[in-house]
Parts: sequence; C-alpha cells; structure tokens
Amino acid sequence: MVAAEGDPIPNTPELIVAGNASVDLLLGPLTPWPRPGTEVLVEDAAWRVGGALGNTALALAGLGVPARLVWDVGDDMLAGWLAAELRAAGDAPRRLPGPASLTAALNHPDGERTFVSHLGHLALSEPDALAGAIDAAAPGDLLLVGGSFLLPRWRPALATLFARARARGVLTLLDTGWPSAGWTDALREELSSTLTHVDVFLPNLDEARGLLALPDATPRDALAGLGQLVAGRTVLKLGAAGAAQRNGEEVLIAPAPELTVADTVGAGDTFNAALLCALRDAVAWPQAVALAVAVASSVVASKPRRYPRWSSLHRRANAT
Ligand SMILES: Nc1ncnc2c1ncn2[C@@H]1O[C@H](COP(=O)(O)OP(=O)(O)OP(=O)(O)O)[C@@H](O)[C@H]1O
Ligand SMILES: [Mg+2]
Repeated sequence: MVAAEGDPIPNTPELIVAGNASVDLLLGPLTPWPRPGTEVLVEDAAWRVGGALGNTALALAGLGVPARLVWDVGDDMLAGWLAAELRAAGDAPRRLPGPASLTAALNHPDGERTFVSHLGHLALSEPDALAGAIDAAAPGDLLLVGGSFLLPRWRPALATLFARARARGVLTLLDTGWPSAGWTDALREELSSTLTHVDVFLPNLDEARGLLALPDATPRDALAGLGQLVAGRTVLKLGAAGAAQRNGEEVLIAPAPELTVADTVGAGDTFNAALLCALRDAVAWPQAVALAVAVASSVVASKPRRYPRWSSLHRRANAT
C-alpha cells in the first residue's frame, strides 16, 4: 500500500475521536423575530455538517491527518447526507433508527445566532462503540470525546470509560460543550467525577465559569479552579484572545492573530483537531497550544473554509 500524506508512520499513536455529529441548517439574516403564525423569507440558506465530532473530523480531514471515528447517525435522508459528507474523514457511522440530530441556526444581522435543535439520533446513542475503541487502543494513542453533553446515554458511563482508557495508557481529552439545560449541581458533580480521569480538558471560558459556578472568573481564576478538578491539565479557549494554560503558577496565553473573521462555527472543534495532531507528534505544550490557536484562527478567517496541511505546519514548527 502506498502511504498517503498524513498517514501515520509505523508506531505513530492513533487519534480516536468520539462524539456527536449533526446536521446544521443555516438560515438568515433574520430580523425582526417573526410573529407566531407568520412567514418570513430570508436571503441565505445552507446545510452544514455540525456537532463536535463532525467539525473535528472535517478539520482532521482538511489537515490531512487520519483518525479513528466513533459516531452514529440516524436513518433518514439527512443522516445519509451526513455520512456521505464525512466519508473521506474516516470510519463510517453506525446507523440508529430515527431522524438525524438537527439544528436550525438562525442568523441575525448583528452576527448573533439563535439555535433551535432536535437531539434526534443522539438520544439513542450508546457508548458501547466507544468502549470497544478504548479496548482496541494501544498505549500512547489519544482519545478525544467531544459534545458529551449532547449524548445523554454516554454521560453516565464517561468516568468509567476514561478511567479504562487511562489505565491502558491512552491520553484522554474532553470537550463537553455547553450544557443546553444549564449548569446544575448534579451536572457539576457528574462532570467532576469524569475530570479526575481526564488528561486534557478543553472548555471555553464560559463553560469553565459555569462549571466552577464563578461567573466572573478570569482565565487565571478558571485555570486555578480547574486545576483542582482535572487529573491532567486544562487548555482554556478564549475566542479572539486565543487560548490559555498553566505552567506551574504562571498563566501562558497563546494569543490569536488579529484577523477578519468569516465564520466562527466549529472554531473550538478545529482547535481540538490541531491540538490532537500536535500532541500526537510530541510537540511541546506551549507550542502545541500556539499551533492550535494559529490553525483555528486561520480556519475561521477563511472563506470558503480552508484548512492548512498538518505536514507543512509541523515541518515549519520543527524548523523554528
Ligand atoms: N474572533 C476570533 N478571532 C481570531 N481567532 C478566533 C476567533 N474566534 C475563535 N478563534 C480561534 O478559535 C479558537 C477556539 O475558539 P473559541 O475560543 O471560540 O472556542 P469555543 O468557544 O470552544 O468554540 P465553539 O463555539 O466552536 O465550541 C481560538 O482559540 C482562536 O484560535
Ligand atoms: Mg467549544
């Protein structure tokens, strides 16, 4: 077999990406909010792959880095479209009965968005395929679970599964996303018990504040608070300000470049994809986070969306 660009060289750790994929319908601009019972016409409409796994898989395919994907779809027309869109990205999904998870994203002229979502197949998704992937993993492999708050049947099993992965020598990474029903003490407790088995936690600042019940926490406060909960480290995503991590008592910020943003959808998941690549290739922490920021920022500024090739980024990083 001829090796394709980005194919792992022998003994390169494998990336395992598990989580939610959904279909997004973007409609807009919408103003004012329609009165119930009326109809409005908007100028733009587009279908897009969505969900944490969906966006990370697209980014990894764009970067040219192979991954093992653990995901499901429904069995309707949109589920078929979703599976076809991600065919080149890695493993095919398992089909579940029922409609694909769907989000209608309504864009407002000021850049705000309103989301109306249906959980669809995600309500039925069981974590058994994730358990199988963990049991087949080799020491040194990396496992990212994304969008776990939208996977109600995965959530209660995650602490045990992450513990199992770590016991096998797998590096565990978690990005929960925002909890659609808000933060409750029960949710905080559940997530805290998972975080004791997480090597790399990947929240944004709002999620960190919600988890810690500290609505005004600065990045420094958030990293200090999460340091008490997470087994390994936290990389805190800060949007236009880049990302932050701790090195002892020091807070290291990897700033994002100033650029004109075209579309921030999937920014965090693209960041996660690039960080996975950097960690797989043993890039040192400060540089790994800086690379993830650089990739995510360049992707959100591109239109149509373009991804840099990981092989050339990594070569350049090694040369500096
Ligand atoms: N306005 C912006 N300007 C420059 N870079 C940006 C901007 N927004 C996002 N990014 C890039 O994307 C990365 C991750 O974005 P963000 O911090 O918004 O994550 P997130 O909140 O988890 O995103 P998501 O909503 O996709 O889950 C940032 O670290 C940065 O590199
Ligand atoms: Mg996010």
